[in-house]
Amino acid sequence: MPIPHTIRTIVLTGFMGAGKSTIGPALALELGWEFVDADAVIESRAGKPIAQIFAEQGEAAFRALEAEVIREQAAKQNLVLALGGGALETESTRALLQMHPSTLIVFLDAPLELLVTRCLEQAGAAERPVLADREQLLHRFQARLPHYRDAHLTVSTVGLTADEVVAKIADAVSGAIQGSRRYEG
Ligand code: S3P
Repeated sequence: MPIPHTIRTIVLTGFMGAGKSTIGPALALELGWEFVDADAVIESRAGKPIAQIFAEQGEAAFRALEAEVIREQAAKQNLVLALGGGALETESTRALLQMHPSTLIVFLDAPLELLVTRCLEQAGAAERPVLADREQLLHRFQARLPHYRDAHLTVSTVGLTADEVVAKIADAVSGAIQGSRRYEG
């Protein structure tokens, strides 16, 4: 998809371990925008961690809550929104994000082996229900790839620091950003 002429919201997508929660705040800082992590909003709304939502209510209930949170957040402007890795499995979420003329979807890309390594290095590895289900992991990754690749912008994160990834995204969008301290005029 072509990059929108005017960008008011940036949505980060990619599998677990893609760097959405690391790149997101740094990109928001760079643009002078707000950062929201959809998973964090879901947890605070449900009053429990995601693993507990999966265990007690099932994945379908989690996906419904996830879609609702994204619908609300995606309506905001001057916002960098990090999605959970499975958010684009929900068709209505894909349609909503793609339909919005000033929303840029960015896919943070990396091979599955590297993603898993990164996840295992992180403190909360044991709490990621989708990571725990190893048999399904490759299947899920492959099923999601076409949706990730529908993004307006794909950035390979392999061998790059977070700052380098942020710079790549900021460069790609600089002509289309309005209303931010940094990119005004
Ligand atoms: C999920 C990824 C998680 C979180 C939930 C489900 C998935 O987000 O939304 O555990 O289905 O891949 P991260 O991608 O931020 O880990």
